[in-house]
Amino acid sequence: MAEGTAQQGTGKVLVSLEHAKKSFGDTPVLKDISLSVREGEVWGIIGPSGGGKSTLLRCCTLLETLDSGSLRFEDITVAEDNGAGHSVYADKDTLAGARQRFGLVFQNFNLFPHYTVLQNIIDAPISVQKVPKDEAVARARELLEKMDLAGKEDYVPCDLSGGQQQRVAIARALAMRPDVLFFDEPTSALDPELTKGVLNVIRQLAEEKMTMVIVTHEMTFARDVADHIVFMDAGVVVEEGPAEQVIDHPQHERTRAFLANYGD
Ligand SMILES: Nc1ncnc2c1ncn2[C@@H]1O[C@H](COP(=O)(O)OP(=O)(O)O)[C@@H](O)[C@H]1O
Ligand SMILES: [Mg+2]
Repeated sequence: MAEGTAQQGTGKVLVSLEHAKKSFGDTPVLKDISLSVREGEVWGIIGPSGGGKSTLLRCCTLLETLDSGSLRFEDITVAEDNGAGHSVYADKDTLAGARQRFGLVFQNFNLFPHYTVLQNIIDAPISVQKVPKDEAVARARELLEKMDLAGKEDYVPCDLSGGQQQRVAIARALAMRPDVLFFDEPTSALDPELTKGVLNVIRQLAEEKMTMVIVTHEMTFARDVADHIVFMDAGVVVEEGPAEQVIDHPQHERTRAFLANYGD
């Protein structure tokens, strides 16, 4: 991708977070974070443990509430700053609508253990989106094929490898046809061999122009796949920009020190 040019500023903004702040007790964890993810973009979020990456994703995906700042999914305002430094959240129906716009893939898969692979994937489309069962099943089979899991639909999660479980989790998220997918360290619970399969699937989604925000420790992957990298430390965005710039030519000492630990 051409550095900092072609893809910037074109597609519509699907996720917009402005001046997000969040504390746990007296500890500020997000200190004024803004991001604006456009259709087709892949964002990589990197940084040391404890820097606030998961909290940022949890705020974006409505698992945590912001203290102040605003959050929008395209035309849906989830939370708006009231001007006095407090986020005011939309009503329940609006939030339910916003939840349809994104999918989330966790580090530890979070599949329903007592459901089969197929049930895991079709449950939400049927119960939340009222997709007819036949259609949900057909869609699930298509996704399983794409995730290289054809034939696994009647397995239960514990009979699959971690890499296969994570690919089921990705299929489950995609089954809702989200505008954007968030990933929180999708491979950090996997050994290198299984990591590869999951990263390949995400790479393929990137090629198909799926909009994604990915928290990852896989620097080579981030550089290859992400258009835009955010380096977060201690609740602030220290540095951000095109992947080649931030990863290959970091401007800030903290970014350099962090990347030096990855040795590639
Ligand atoms: N629910 C919570 N209650 C209290 N502190 C939390 C909670 N979640 C995260 N934290 C703290 O917030 C900071 C950022 O955590 P986190 O967002 O998980 O960072 P990262 O994902 O970058 O490792 C850490 O100091 C963590 O201990
Ligand atoms: Mg985390």
